[in-house]
Amino acid sequence: MRKLTGAILATLLTTPVAFADPVDDTLVLNEETEIVTRTAAPDHLSDSLDEVMSGWLFRGKETRAMQADDFDNPGMIFVEQAMDSWNAVDGSEGKSCASCHDGLETMAGVKATYPKWDEAAGKVQTLQMQVNECRTERMGAEAWPYDKGNAINMEAALSSVSRGLPVNVAIDGPAKETWEQGKDMYYTRTGQLELSCANCHEDNYGNMIRADHLSQGQINGFPVYRLKNTKLNGSHSRFKGCIRDTRAETYKPGSPEFIALELYVTSRGNGLSVEGPSIRN
Ligand code: HEC
Ligand code: HEC
Repeated sequence: MRKLTGAILATLLTTPVAFADPVDDTLVLNEETEIVTRTAAPDHLSDSLDEVMSGWLFRGKETRAMQADDFDNPGMIFVEQAMDSWNAVDGSEGKSCASCHDGLETMAGVKATYPKWDEAAGKVQTLQMQVNECRTERMGAEAWPYDKGNAINMEAALSSVSRGLPVNVAIDGPAKETWEQGKDMYYTRTGQLELSCANCHEDNYGNMIRADHLSQGQINGFPVYRLKNTKLNGSHSRFKGCIRDTRAETYKPGSPEFIALELYVTSRGNGLSVEGPSIRN
């Protein structure tokens, strides 16, 4: 069992602290696409973790089962909505996504490499930013608000065609500085509770916190459909919730801080399969 960090965390964790292993189960989508839910940690994590694990392994049996079949996965309803906007003309140029990109399947593999450095923009871009770049600069349409409706639905659709492929974001070259910023955030203790992401998701995964089975906080499964709020949730919105739980000031979805954190957290799951839209409680 991993060490508990600090008296405050110990009080947050249920007493006596219960440790429950992630389940020994395999995820095969629609009886054909094998999903890698645990694998050797990427090299940059070799000092802290041996293995990386999808949040799927920490969820209950029914929640896991819902994700195995697209007909049972409520997240796929939002993917269908995004397919409609993929084909819908919008903006002053009279174009749809399909006018330039043909079918959604041409995007297979794209999600696995985001966030990534964009040469023209001179910064790291998330998938939602890239989509908005196409909307504002190529379609003459308005940007979609971050982590909401159309934007999160489209991210889920783009993710759905990459499921089963390994997450593989670049952390070197021009993206390195942003990655370092995200790493600093991950290990910095914040809020009245003085907790870092690592205190919970690296030091204590497997432990029960309140009624919840703590995972490694991976984002290979994002966007996630949460049974709690019955909609798709973006990784930035999840970060915001976790930071609030430490009673710290948080950042906005789409902010430079969360872009950096998304790059770093994604890189902790390099080697796991793209899994979104996934189901969580
Ligand atoms: C007028 C043509 C055009 C339209 C319309 C368009 N795009 Fe693009 N899109 C591009 C071009 C060109 C690129 C490559 C840009 C680059 O490499 O920086 C691109 C890149 C992308 C990428 C990144 C691909 C990668 O390999 O990194 C995504 C995702 C994307 N578009 C999604 C969309 C979506 C979703 C829509 C509709 C909301 C859309 N695009 C509308 C031309 C278009
Ligand atoms: C006080 C402990 C705690 C801290 C600190 C914390 N989290 Fe969480 N986090 C949780 C709990 C509990 C859950 C829900 C159970 C789970 O999936 O681990 C969760 C869930 C998540 C998930 C969803 C994982 C999935 O597969 O659906 C992500 C991503 C995440 N956290 C990222 C972060 C990041 C990034 C930070 C730092 C900014 C952070 N968390 C800080 C407790 C914490």
